[in-house]
Amino acid sequence: MADVEYVNLSINGQAVKGRKGQTIWQAAKDAGIFIPIYCYHPKMPPLGACRICLVEVEKTPKPQAACTTAIAEGMVVRTESTYAEKARGGVMEFLLINHPLDCPICDKGGECDLQNYAVEYGQSTGRFQEEKRHLGKALELGPTIALDRERCIMCQRCVRFGNEIVQDEGLIIIERGADSEIGTFPGKPYVSQFSGNVTEICPVGALTSRTYRFRARPWELKHTPSVCAHCSVGCNIEIDTRLGREVVRFMSRTNDAIDDGWLCDRGRYGYGFIHSEQRLRTPLIRKGGRLEPASWAEAFDFVASKLKTIKQEHGAQAIGGIAGTHSTNEELYIFQKLLRGLIGTPNIDHKHGSFGSIPAASIPAIHTATIEGLSTAKLIVLVGADPSDRQPIVELRIKKALKAGAKLAIIGPSLKALDRFATVRIPVAEGQVEAALNALLAQLTKSGAAKGLQTESIKTALDSLYEGYDAGTEFGAEVQQLAGLLEGADRITYLYDELTPDVAGNKDLVATLARLAVVTGQLGEAGVGIGRLTEDNNSWGALDMGITPGFGPGYTSTTQGLGYQEMLGAHGQTPLKALLVMGANPVKHLQELGLGGDAIANLELLVVQEQFLSETAERAHVVLPSSSFAEKEGTFTNTEGRVQQIAAAIQPLQGIAPDAAILLELASRLGAEVKTRNSQGLFDEITRVTPLYNGLSFNNLGQEGTLRPVARETRSETLPDWLQTSIRPTSEVLIGTANAELEQALEASGETPEKRG
Ligand code: SF4
Ligand code: SF4
Ligand code: FES
Repeated sequence: MADVEYVNLSINGQAVKGRKGQTIWQAAKDAGIFIPIYCYHPKMPPLGACRICLVEVEKTPKPQAACTTAIAEGMVVRTESTYAEKARGGVMEFLLINHPLDCPICDKGGECDLQNYAVEYGQSTGRFQEEKRHLGKALELGPTIALDRERCIMCQRCVRFGNEIVQDEGLIIIERGADSEIGTFPGKPYVSQFSGNVTEICPVGALTSRTYRFRARPWELKHTPSVCAHCSVGCNIEIDTRLGREVVRFMSRTNDAIDDGWLCDRGRYGYGFIHSEQRLRTPLIRKGGRLEPASWAEAFDFVASKLKTIKQEHGAQAIGGIAGTHSTNEELYIFQKLLRGLIGTPNIDHKHGSFGSIPAASIPAIHTATIEGLSTAKLIVLVGADPSDRQPIVELRIKKALKAGAKLAIIGPSLKALDRFATVRIPVAEGQVEAALNALLAQLTKSGAAKGLQTESIKTALDSLYEGYDAGTEFGAEVQQLAGLLEGADRITYLYDELTPDVAGNKDLVATLARLAVVTGQLGEAGVGIGRLTEDNNSWGALDMGITPGFGPGYTSTTQGLGYQEMLGAHGQTPLKALLVMGANPVKHLQELGLGGDAIANLELLVVQEQFLSETAERAHVVLPSSSFAEKEGTFTNTEGRVQQIAAAIQPLQGIAPDAAILLELASRLGAEVKTRNSQGLFDEITRVTPLYNGLSFNNLGQEGTLRPVARETRSETLPDWLQTSIRPTSEVLIGTANAELEQALEASGETPEKRG
């Protein structure tokens, strides 16, 4: 790391050591000294528009804006002198000239910087006697945001959020001078999947969320730290409840390692379902062909006795379980423990069942990169991935890297939001992504740019494997162009979607990508490597906890059982007699895949733990109503393998229970002695039996969560070989694996990848 140069200055008589290049505001903040801001936002470049940050700087003729003035050696700054306070008082007076002073009916009242600083620096009476500017209230800018123009102080944070962060120019300034107001291009409403952020960064009550307006006052809110459950990024949120009873909004809870302080609208506004009338509020049991309300005792008795009978008559193999990828690690762990340990069946899986059936010698998944590391990448290559659609905040992290000078390359179908940012695009269909990677490898081999390879024999192997593979003919000039970029770039991050290898034509995509990363010498450092973009908030958790046939928690080898599609009879009838489903809707999923979905009609027992009467629940014999993520505690593991904690913001709605409690009660009815019922105890058990989670505890996950595995030593001693090459491997391990795979591939085929298909 480059040496940091320090600058010595004094702020309010306190000696401060700032970093060269910092502004007065930044140095003061680091030293714990408060200076008010409106237009400046720490995630955006300074503008110097509002002047509320004026301070006194010795030997300067006028007050200086702390957010734009760089610190200098020997500088003497005063933020609380009469001179500085008078300057800020003057600014406040101007800002309030046209302000309607309607705090009592403003949604921001109680958490508004204008209100707070007016109390701090403003005057109790105004000198402005003229008529204030009047504009219509609550202008609807788009589907999510309302604007009160009278309250706007023209700080331009909202406009710059569009220009600097999303780079979509969503909001603009219309008119000029005193008539300036925030708006949109004529006839174009404000539509952005990141729109809700402007309500958080607007320092006054000008921009408000249409869903939250007048739902609560700030002093009624209880704030609970949690994690968004709507995709695999795991952005940090604060769940705000009114009087601790009703969820009224989600706010960001900045985690620079993940979300950089932003939320997408899917996450921010994704809470309406929690209090939905459609939520299941009582167990249901099928009687006379109809699902009828039942008590919890009746439902548990029914399920336990049916399971015992089926096991007795048909054996444990006749029972199976499918869990979802939204459940907590603790719920998933208990789910498989109940099925494997208590009932004795190996038939356990989740939606992405193909993972578990991949031979242990190959690389089924790999991730070495981190979300934060994207900021330091110089070239980001999207490989069959569309983060804007599936992991939205990753789009903003990519755009941040591009602002800092990185380049973007895209291999795969057209991307609506990111195509225009790409330096190179290889526009191939989903099933041709692996072929395009092979073409790149061929091109790099031809140009002799295999900088990450270790031995002459491997270079020879690569030469033989790709000899005669004419990349140019198949994919055109873009391959040569991207190969040129790859050769020149020194910090490359490749991001692939976890579902792309499942598409026909891409079965060796992960191994091929690992080879490309090794060939381009891009592994083993922060900001470079391969990132696996998973689908749901706990897709990794489902794998880590052993919700897959053949692998127990921590990928320990266990008896191979039936997979997802086999259990569901996707190609015929289910071989099972009983199926337990937790937080998943396989009937709908199979219908979407064109694989039927009624093959489970002959089950003797279908038990579904769900929040709503899903397509699968509609077919169940017993439905058990379960809690949402806002009503329970536990942990999720995000797309980069970061384990984060969630907390209950409200009690489970009446009649509803968390999945872990349901499973533990069922275990108890099946004869198990249940010793641990709380999430902390369950997580402790997970960390004991799952090497990947060794060293973690509820108490040390911290505000930002913790990347697993914690210790490399633990990992190398206890994890299976293939896993060591998958989860943040050392570059040596991965290079060794990629080289071995290359040799094997060469030996097995003696052909070009083109011929191997
Ligand atoms: S609407 Fe809010 S964020 Fe936008 S310029 Fe006005 S005060 Fe600033
Ligand atoms: S990117 Fe994903 S985790 Fe983040 S707020 Fe959006 S849906 Fe939630
Ligand atoms: S915050 Fe410094 S000028 Fe606005």
